[in-house]
Amino acid sequence: MLDAITFDAQQKLFILRGNRSYYAMRLLDDGALVHVGFGPAQTVPDAFSGLDSYEEPNYVWENQGRRWEYPTFGDVSQHDVALTAAFPEPPGERRGGEQNYLPVRDVRLRYVHHDICSSAQPGLTAQHGRNEPSARPTLCITLRDIGYPFIARLYYRITPELDIFERWVELENQTDMQVSIELLAFATIHLPTDRYTLTRAAGAWGREFVPITQELHQGVTLMRQLGLNTGHQVNPSFVIRPLGQTEPDVGRTCFGLLAFSGNWSLRCEVLPTDAVRIHGGYEHGNFGMTLNPGETHCTPAFIFGIADDGINGASNRLHAWFHRCVLPKSVHGTTRPVLYNGWESVYFDMSMEKQLQLARTAAAIGVELFCVDDGWFSGRRNERIGLGDWTVDPSIFPNGLTPLIAEVTRLGMRFGLWVEPEMVNPDSHLYRTHPDWVLHFPGRPRTEMRHQLILDFGRSDVVETVYAMLDSLLAENDITFFKWDMNRYITEMGSAAGREIWYRHVQGVYGIMDRLLKKYPRLDIQSCSGGGGRVDAGMLSRCVQVWTSDNTDAMDRVYIQDGFSLFYPPATMESWVTHERNHQTGRMIPLDVRFDVAMRGVLGIGTNLDALPADELEVYRRKIAFYKKIRHIVQGGRLYRLASLPTDSASVWQIVSPDGEESVYSIAVVQALQGHHLPNYRLRNLLPDATYRITNESDDEIGRFSGAQLMTLGMPGDQRHGHFTCSLRSRTVLLRRV
Ligand code: DGJ
Repeated sequence: MLDAITFDAQQKLFILRGNRSYYAMRLLDDGALVHVGFGPAQTVPDAFSGLDSYEEPNYVWENQGRRWEYPTFGDVSQHDVALTAAFPEPPGERRGGEQNYLPVRDVRLRYVHHDICSSAQPGLTAQHGRNEPSARPTLCITLRDIGYPFIARLYYRITPELDIFERWVELENQTDMQVSIELLAFATIHLPTDRYTLTRAAGAWGREFVPITQELHQGVTLMRQLGLNTGHQVNPSFVIRPLGQTEPDVGRTCFGLLAFSGNWSLRCEVLPTDAVRIHGGYEHGNFGMTLNPGETHCTPAFIFGIADDGINGASNRLHAWFHRCVLPKSVHGTTRPVLYNGWESVYFDMSMEKQLQLARTAAAIGVELFCVDDGWFSGRRNERIGLGDWTVDPSIFPNGLTPLIAEVTRLGMRFGLWVEPEMVNPDSHLYRTHPDWVLHFPGRPRTEMRHQLILDFGRSDVVETVYAMLDSLLAENDITFFKWDMNRYITEMGSAAGREIWYRHVQGVYGIMDRLLKKYPRLDIQSCSGGGGRVDAGMLSRCVQVWTSDNTDAMDRVYIQDGFSLFYPPATMESWVTHERNHQTGRMIPLDVRFDVAMRGVLGIGTNLDALPADELEVYRRKIAFYKKIRHIVQGGRLYRLASLPTDSASVWQIVSPDGEESVYSIAVVQALQGHHLPNYRLRNLLPDATYRITNESDDEIGRFSGAQLMTLGMPGDQRHGHFTCSLRSRTVLLRRV
């Protein structure tokens, strides 16, 4: 068994080996570190020869065409780079004069030494101690500028059994001057020269994560977020495949994502030579950072890999990595509970009686976690008032939350609460006391959105106050779940932290979450940002689950789920069953479809239960019981998307238990014209010789088939629906080996 990281001193070659992929780079004679190769491989060669012939053509002049592992503005001026830094003075002796030539915006990094370790961690790694994965082999290559004592340490961490690579960089300013960092990527990765398509999860509020595929052409395709959340418009994640490759289970597939929840960018650059590189890191348009003498900055990670088994193979590696290395452990177990959230039932019409009534009905149908949404705190009768004043409203809960929590607990459920800690309404006690505590530019308008302003997390007193408010809520109440919301785009980014606020805000949010998770072991956090605006590997190292979208229309939701699941595991994807006439789209959707779609992730109920007749509640109860029977597979199995939107007319998921003995099959037909027959989708990864009994939610047997038959002839249609020749149909069944 070869080591995961090796250095061949003769060839000056570094090789990182996964079980089925490798990554190689080499030192040139002048100390430059260049990329050699990155690919899926059953066997990684021990030695590489003739490396020079793999270099990119130098079509412009010397350094420009090199495949720099970490390209900097200085060595490279004709293409995009990973780092631009500005030094106020030339290196060495101060010469005076040439003022107009300053600052020196020129960095050239060359090799100093390298180490292999196992404990290094990227910046903004969770500090709550709940997700300490075992040590992983990590390579640190130290580079230094040719003139200034300005250091960059490039880190490469590998999880060999999952073929996941993580890269980040640490900068250290050993000069005696302030260095301005104008652009900073966590890493640049190179793909073999080819023609590619890029698939990303993109959209807007209410249609987050819809998969969009486009061909990459010469130039830069920019994915970015200008904000303090991860963004609804596009998620910091991608899949890149050779043009024309569309089969979900075969073919070379490169994938990646960023572990950062603020302003980020992924720049997919195709050079005139067709060489492809991806620079991932902080979005630099508005960003700025100063490194004082002696200071360091360690970036978050750029996570990536390359699979030889298609887009499903890529997702499976990422899902496994999230489970093993990222998601925080919960004392409540690995299974996510069935949740009730009353937002769409009551909105701001909050009352103790109504919450008690909802809690009793929710418990009766099998809900395990009861979450009170917006509207519970001081004066919060509508969107205009109260944010910032996180004390329980005595006119609604005269004896605080304790009696409600006691009843919820007596009913056998956990209690959860909505908060939006980064925000303040001008109509609040907090804002009236501290009008200077919000992001703003002096003397300029303060733009409100949803009647709220953003607290300045560039100030430590603000961060401490927010922490203290949440801390006392948790100290005084048995709350085991926070829905942490964030409902604003960004304007007027003036902050005590200057242009570093883009980073400092995220650092502040992560820091508060880490402290709370550490102090309150029974607390779990859900990430929400007007739906799915805050989903990324940084958040998921703190939050067990996310509110995927405010759009609960099941037919829209399947698009969202197909995109979400490309990168993030179903065990983190909260989905609610809501009203028959959907509140976002007005569409009428049958209850079966609403449940079938919501059961693909972490099931939640958002319906006004007290308005439902007893027989419908009984259907809810039965379906929730069925979900509990299949959820260990849904939340812990291996997902295969057999058909996906928007390419196919249906979204078809199969999730298989790790031992292949059980599987869940879920089909949702969005667009099918009468007369068309959908295929019998061929299942994956079953035991060929085993016989599987297929049952529905009522435990009715639909049939018995061998694994081989299901994997070759496919899934049979059922008596009732045939092969679904019209839209708005769905089905979820359980396959169990007999
Ligand atoms: C936006 C969230 O996405 C909703 O689920 C709800 O919590 C509202 N905020 C409450 O204001």
